Amino acid sequence: MYSEKVIEHFMSPQNAWYMPDADGVGKIGEPGCGDNCMIFIKVRDGIIQDISFLIFGCGAAIASGSMTTVLAKGKTLQAALKITEQDIIDALDGLPEMKQHCSNLGAAALHAAIQDYLIKQGLPLEGYC
Ligand code: FES
Repeated sequence: MYSEKVIEHFMSPQNAWYMPDADGVGKIGEPGCGDNCMIFIKVRDGIIQDISFLIFGCGAAIASGSMTTVLAKGKTLQAALKITEQDIIDALDGLPEMKQHCSNLGAAALHAAIQDYLIKQGLPLEGYC
């Protein structure tokens, strides 16, 4: 049912910690199931230097949050904003049909964290979003 990658990221999530001095924070809830995800980013010279996440959710959501941080770390803000739910699903070698929505938490929280960073820096969203 779940790929090896999903199980690996569920059992040993990457970058799962609270970042008190984050430059940007994104929080997204999934109204359908009540799960929610927070993503924290540290940005230097337009690059996501560090990233972490906290999640209250199912195994697929935990794996998706973990994979989101792996995909986004070291990327420019523009490149990270292009990370989609499908990219996360593909990087996890797939998710069961009824669990595909779980990948939305990580992607949406990442995008929200970047927007939060841009707003805090007084940078225009145009050209990014
Ligand atoms: Fe809610 Fe997976 S069931 S995010």
